[in-house]
Amino acid sequence: AKKVLSGIQPSGTLTLGNYIGAMKNFVKLQEEHECYFMVVDLHAITVAQEPAALREQSESVAALFIAAGIDPARSNVYLQSHVPQHAELGWIMTTLTAMGELERMTQFKDKSSGKDSVGAGLFVYPSLMAADILVYNADLVPVGEDQKQHLELTRDLAGRFNSRFGEFFTIPEPYIPQVGARIMSLDDGTKKMSKSNPNAGSFISLLDPPDVIRKKISRATTDSGREVIFDPQNKPEVSNLMSIYAECSGMSLGQIADRFEGQMYGGFKKELAEVVVATLEPLQQRYHEIRNSGALSDILAESAERARVVAAQTLAGVKERMGFLPVR
Ligand code: TYM
Repeated sequence: AKKVLSGIQPSGTLTLGNYIGAMKNFVKLQEEHECYFMVVDLHAITVAQEPAALREQSESVAALFIAAGIDPARSNVYLQSHVPQHAELGWIMTTLTAMGELERMTQFKDKSSGKDSVGAGLFVYPSLMAADILVYNADLVPVGEDQKQHLELTRDLAGRFNSRFGEFFTIPEPYIPQVGARIMSLDDGTKKMSKSNPNAGSFISLLDPPDVIRKKISRATTDSGREVIFDPQNKPEVSNLMSIYAECSGMSLGQIADRFEGQMYGGFKKELAEVVVATLEPLQQRYHEIRNSGALSDILAESAERARVVAAQTLAGVKERMGFLPVR
């Protein structure tokens, strides 16, 4: 079995993009591997969070992990801040990272552009993400396409450490889906679906009620054509809706094109909405059960305890190799 690690920020309600790009694969990978799935609250505070909102969102995302099908009896589900070794190795990774490497990160460029004040945490964020992965010597990291560049940096940092201090870290591999690695915004087929978009009509939240989902999909932007065919270059919006259909139904893009041949967008969208509702309704039901059950805090505590044991061992090895005096 391999070690799998991934994280999701509790900085807003998760979207269908998070589910398709990442969570669905978490559920799949837990069948065969040792898994660590984190709510990355330390990453979330790289932009200002209201304390009450951070608390609520952190609990909500943890419950969504389980509602999506992550089995806490098999996988570790916990908060990043409950395992202090992340922050400590994060600092060490920051010292191994060059400014130029961080300046090249497109997520940083996107998130900082046009702002007159940008927190330093946002800049060094990828070094902390590298620590998240390396502190368990993870082999596989299931993420959406937008995290690929951060994974590359993680691999570089692991290699750099190994060549300076001796072979130690596993070089992790990204695990990115073929279809659905980049779900686009419903109002603009050139922008990624994002929970931080101020237009709520641009994304489907995992907790949107069925009628809201139906309305958002019926209003989703399409082109002026009428054919349901997969052509991301020329028909980005329709292609995106087809990817969502494929990921929520298990059908291939070809099967979907066949099914809607000769039909117009209206009928396709109606069916798409039902496919999405059928995916999210059971998830939402489990979500409410978990939040009402009061079982979450035990799950989070037990997982964090297991994670701390593994992380502490790695960190001790790192510190020894780097020349830190042991605590005596
Ligand atoms: P975050 O919280 O922005 O997103 C969580 C996961 O969802 C994926 N994703 C998408 N996939 C497809 N289409 C979309 N529109 C879409 N939007 C988001 C992301 O690629 C991600 O996999 N830096 C990370 C969190 C993180 C992490 C880690 C991930 C911190 N430490 C260690 C892996 C390993 C982030 O901000 O993801």
